Amino acid sequence: MRELELTAEKMVAEGRALARPDGFVIFIEGALPGERVRARITQRKKSFAFAQALEVLEPSPDRQAAPCPVFGECGGCAFQHMAYPAQLRAKHGILLEALYGLPGVPGIVAEPLGMVEPFHFRNKMGFAFGMTEGRIVLGLHRRGNWRSVVTAGACLLQSPESREILARVRTFVQEHDLPVYDEKRRAGLLRHLVVREGKLTGERMVHLHAAERHLAFEQLPAVVGDLATTVLASFHTRVPEAAPPGSTVVLSGPGLIHERLNGFLFEIGPATFFQTNTLQGERLFGLVRDWAASGRPERAVDLYAGTGPIAIHLGAVSQQVLGIESHAPSVDAARRNVELNSLANVRMVCAKAERVGETLREERADLVVVDPPRPGLNPKALAALLAAAPPHVIYVSCNPATLARDLAGMVEAGYGIEQVQPLDMFPHTFHIEAVVRLERKIKGG
Ligand SMILES: C[S@@+](CC[C@H](N)C(=O)[O-])C[C@H]1O[C@@H](n2cnc3c(N)ncnc32)[C@H](O)[C@@H]1O
Repeated sequence: MRELELTAEKMVAEGRALARPDGFVIFIEGALPGERVRARITQRKKSFAFAQALEVLEPSPDRQAAPCPVFGECGGCAFQHMAYPAQLRAKHGILLEALYGLPGVPGIVAEPLGMVEPFHFRNKMGFAFGMTEGRIVLGLHRRGNWRSVVTAGACLLQSPESREILARVRTFVQEHDLPVYDEKRRAGLLRHLVVREGKLTGERMVHLHAAERHLAFEQLPAVVGDLATTVLASFHTRVPEAAPPGSTVVLSGPGLIHERLNGFLFEIGPATFFQTNTLQGERLFGLVRDWAASGRPERAVDLYAGTGPIAIHLGAVSQQVLGIESHAPSVDAARRNVELNSLANVRMVCAKAERVGETLREERADLVVVDPPRPGLNPKALAALLAAAPPHVIYVSCNPATLARDLAGMVEAGYGIEQVQPLDMFPHTFHIEAVVRLERKIKGG
């Protein structure tokens, strides 16, 4: 494919930089804003193209040597070659652009809340077993090729303890000559290893996934015992890592761990979803709680509630809280979390957001918090929300594009956007989280 010199203007979605030679749009991988690069076109469409930077001809002052030795090879991080303050500026710019045209933007969009120490923050890491030059590697999937594994010993997103667990498990499986599972041939044993940590409780879970049971696994608790409060193993050949019910055995400890967020305790089982960045999670949920408190809600609803962190935080500032979530195991986990924190004013129901019109109207909530997945609010869920017309809405978003679409619908229905606070939940990746506070300007409902 064709090579050419390009000047990158700014970062856009998915961690690419934008160039516009003669007005034609090119999305470049591997370039930073302001840089002149030699790039190869990798895919050409009618009105735009994708390119890969091959050489940086004029580097940006924000370019840095990636601290991680496998950056670029590993599919985990996109931005380690960019100084952290520049990453935050880039994310701010992408969010501003997505929200452009909405009333009050850019004035109401605050600077992103970044991390003071943007490494070692992940409370969950999944590692794959693979073979390289006849030796077992335990690491992360290679960028663009999930069947290949790059070693993760030096990965800086994990804790030093997780790193030590990785090293010990690798040595253990090598010493026992255990074979790696081969997806294509459907043969072998070892699949992946998940390490989960309560950053603020010190509890740690080691969870091995293998194609079938093996006697050697009984020794795993002794191998990682001083570092893990519980060790589990699941036996299945499912892709990707979710273990089917009944496939998991507890090898030591209680089979779950706990994490603390702003003083609330949460139970984390092997299949429980939990925010992977504890410290930023505290800031995110603390912000929702504080914004909620300023409206003095009597009845609050947490829509897309997951395992309940928002509902539980709202429980501290609202008289009654209803959490709504469609995934039944998450609802069960949320109920246990509510119990764990002795919150008699928080209820959880299992329901789809697009079917909650009546519940929302009956609830007569004065605050609804929504935290939908990346596709944003389902149109029926948005219609139900607008029909219920709560005076206050807080929207927690992990996708600026769907956030912009949903906010436009809410503005049209009479809501004003009061505040937008971006947070960096995933340093070194292109993900952007934003919390938006809305107030209903036109009375109705
Ligand atoms: C971004 S997560 C938020 C979870 C929670 N607020 C947290 O921070 O842990 C989105 C949640 O929406 C749930 N969900 C997805 N589609 C849904 C739907 N149609 N109705 C209700 N909940 C849904 C998912 O199961 C997931 O728990």
